[in-house]
Amino acid sequence: MKGALRKTLLGGLLFMLLCSILIVSWLVLANRNPDLDQPATVVIDVRQQLAQGAYLARIGNCMSCHTARGGASYAGGRAVPTPFGNVYASNLTPDKDTGLGHWSSDDFWRAMHDGKSRDGRLLYPAFPYPNYTRVSRADSDAIFAYLQTLPAVKQENRAPELRAPYDNRLLLYAWRALYFRAGTFVADDTQSFAWNRGAYLTQGLGHCSACHSPRDRWGGIDGKAELAGGMISSLNWYAPPLNGSANSLGKWHDTEIVAFLKAGLTAERSATGPMAEVIATSLQYVSHDDVQAMATYLSALPPSDKGPVPIDDNLRREEKQAIIASGARLYEQHCVNCHQAAGQGVASVYPALAGSYAVTAAIAANPIRLVLHGGFGASTTGNPRPYGMPPFGHVMTDNEIAAVVTYIRNAWGNQASAVSARDVNQYRSQEGL
Ligand code: HEC
Ligand code: HEC
Ligand code: HEC
Repeated sequence: MKGALRKTLLGGLLFMLLCSILIVSWLVLANRNPDLDQPATVVIDVRQQLAQGAYLARIGNCMSCHTARGGASYAGGRAVPTPFGNVYASNLTPDKDTGLGHWSSDDFWRAMHDGKSRDGRLLYPAFPYPNYTRVSRADSDAIFAYLQTLPAVKQENRAPELRAPYDNRLLLYAWRALYFRAGTFVADDTQSFAWNRGAYLTQGLGHCSACHSPRDRWGGIDGKAELAGGMISSLNWYAPPLNGSANSLGKWHDTEIVAFLKAGLTAERSATGPMAEVIATSLQYVSHDDVQAMATYLSALPPSDKGPVPIDDNLRREEKQAIIASGARLYEQHCVNCHQAAGQGVASVYPALAGSYAVTAAIAANPIRLVLHGGFGASTTGNPRPYGMPPFGHVMTDNEIAAVVTYIRNAWGNQASAVSARDVNQYRSQEGL
């Protein structure tokens, strides 16, 4: 009896040992980064490299996250919200004690390419290194060289404020094994130069997929669903699909994508919320050729079936018709002056609501937020003083806003699920971004 017990115990231990070995080897193998040894680039023209670095940092929008409101540029301290708590962006100025003063271009490359800090600490993916890993060594070196020319600012980094157990950085080994694949961008020879340039910029520095993809509960993105659109849960805005989905970008002409990304405005659409910020702080500075390349790449993307599933509103036809009828009266009263009787808007001034995916997306977060809190487009050189949309949260009840949004989602040929007062209420307290 005793012998049998010992045997079972020993067997159990051996099994556990085997499992641990398997798990550890999986973590080690999955966390390997084959390109890490790429040598630093040989620089011929330093001035050109610095200009290039400044330009690339714009495309990566580094300053926007790495600058606290009212704080010194690039000195860090801005909270980047995640569903698990806040992570604070680091000081990227060349200060020796608190910034990147002691970093080499190798250290910087390891952070960009492999998400590790100088001391080997794993970095949280709130820093979009799962995208930046695509950036070339030459471009990483140029950004680093540029950052080293900034005025040094002494400002300690702030520790992340994450809920347990997410505050344990060691968990990131598992996260990375599941979701992170390192690797620089590899050009596709069958595609044009513009397509490849666009792919490199959108997948890498532009980190579009960080917002425009659905995420699972651990914040991971399924590779097949990249750019299929998703709710940005930490910001509570919906980022529509950027692939060729028939409803959204699939209907845009390249020139419209270029205008939207550079000026924040097309005849029919106006960027808003976090996208207006991305355009104002980053994309408006991207050269015409590079934005054109992004449009070439985006409009060639095949649609993915991983986008949001249309939500059935479970309303009887007559019930929905009654809500739509009351919404129509509210539209007449509050909205028609700007968005016009047929929802066509005023070209390049007030966006069209008819035929707009910004109105009919399965997830109605954005139109609800616009009506509650109003909105401003991106202020850009192409459109320095964007028209604003006034807030209606204080003049309309949740029921009224639900009705008017349901109306615009179903008028003039639009077709979408109804919005409930509960849907509206959930966004009431969330002003601004
Ligand atoms: C969406 C916000 C965001 C953007 C955009 C962003 N970062 Fe960060 N970055 C962060 C956060 C948050 C951290 C801290 C991560 C942590 O503490 O694990 C960080 C950390 C870093 C680190 C590690 C610093 C250290 O001390 O270990 C480097 C280097 C860095 N970022 C460089 C960049 C560069 C270069 C760009 C632009 C190409 C950029 N970041 C864009 C949010 C961002
Ligand atoms: C910080 C999050 C964030 C990032 C990063 C981001 N976007 Fe967006 N984007 C949004 C949100 C939210 C919307 C919806 C609001 C709107 O339409 O203005 C949006 C809307 C858009 C639209 C309009 C699509 C439609 O069907 O209405 C385009 C085009 C777009 N983004 C392109 C891009 C590209 C290209 C990049 C990368 C260079 C990018 N975005 C990066 C959040 C983001
Ligand atoms: C004073 C003019 C004005 C009025 C009144 C107005 N809007 Fe707007 N609306 C705008 C402008 C300007 C924008 C673009 C705002 C932005 O880019 O953030 C906009 C954007 C929108 C959007 C987002 C469209 C897009 O392309 O992203 C929706 C939905 C919307 N309005 C619905 C309404 C509804 C419903 C009402 C009435 C309750 C209303 N608006 C009243 C001017 C107005």
